[in-house]
Amino acid sequence: MPSPDGMISRKTVLKAAAMLGAAPLLVGGGVALAREQAGTGRPPGFTPECHDGDDPTIEQTEGPYFKPDSPLRSSLVDDGPGTRLTVSGYVFGRACRPIPGVLLDFWQADDNGAYDNGGYTFRGHQFTDANGVFKLDTIVPGLYPGRTRHLHVKLQAPSRPVITTQLYFPGEPRNSTDTIYDARLLMNVRQNGPAREGSFDFVLDVPQTPGTPSPTPTATPTGTPSTPPSGSWKAGTPYNAGDRVTYSGASYACLQAHTALVGWEPPNVPALWKRS
Ligand SMILES: [Fe+2]
Repeated sequence: MPSPDGMISRKTVLKAAAMLGAAPLLVGGGVALAREQAGTGRPPGFTPECHDGDDPTIEQTEGPYFKPDSPLRSSLVDDGPGTRLTVSGYVFGRACRPIPGVLLDFWQADDNGAYDNGGYTFRGHQFTDANGVFKLDTIVPGLYPGRTRHLHVKLQAPSRPVITTQLYFPGEPRNSTDTIYDARLLMNVRQNGPAREGSFDFVLDVPQTPGTPSPTPTATPTGTPSTPPSGSWKAGTPYNAGDRVTYSGASYACLQAHTALVGWEPPNVPALWKRS
């Protein structure tokens, strides 16, 4: 619905584009939305605005089951039981423009409500694509005592802090009794045959100036390290694409700006570091 002041909201634009078939939301290159016109000198009116309730996505406890060093993968599906679930959406900044290269690290319970604390079943991280889109293939997490049904996720935009939150399913009886549950984190979920399709758009507190291009993560080395050979890799250090570090005696080049975390040591995250 258009906003009361007549501006077209981000959600309206997305919905309209989807209805026109112009936005195969998960297929790169097809999202002919207003944000792509940013900076093109086109008249205003299609610039998505954050006045439809799009405050930054709220943060929630990570709980006791997070493990660093999850594998890089967008599918967590294995041979075990469970109802197939896809979760997809955008990650936006404060000006409602999508952010490429955002790290999303998902973890969840299996069909029986158990977390794999010894391995990495139902744990994996991925990055938003050039259109700021993510897609997770998984199963509907099982229930465990004390909680309603939920997914856990950590997000980090390039060179920004990590935020931790959870996603919820509509219509769950336990939503009304779970003290952590928050309706602002409800996904839209629809049934598609035997599977479920969830969607959720995250909004991160990343400054964006309307009318200028989105912050572009550098997916490939620039070749111009901002700080030439920067010594040993160290958690907590903000690295830029092209930075070079050593780790366990090997040399690595940073592929994408990020703040290093324990578990993201260069050999563990080929999306962030390339051996050189
Ligand atoms: Fe949990």
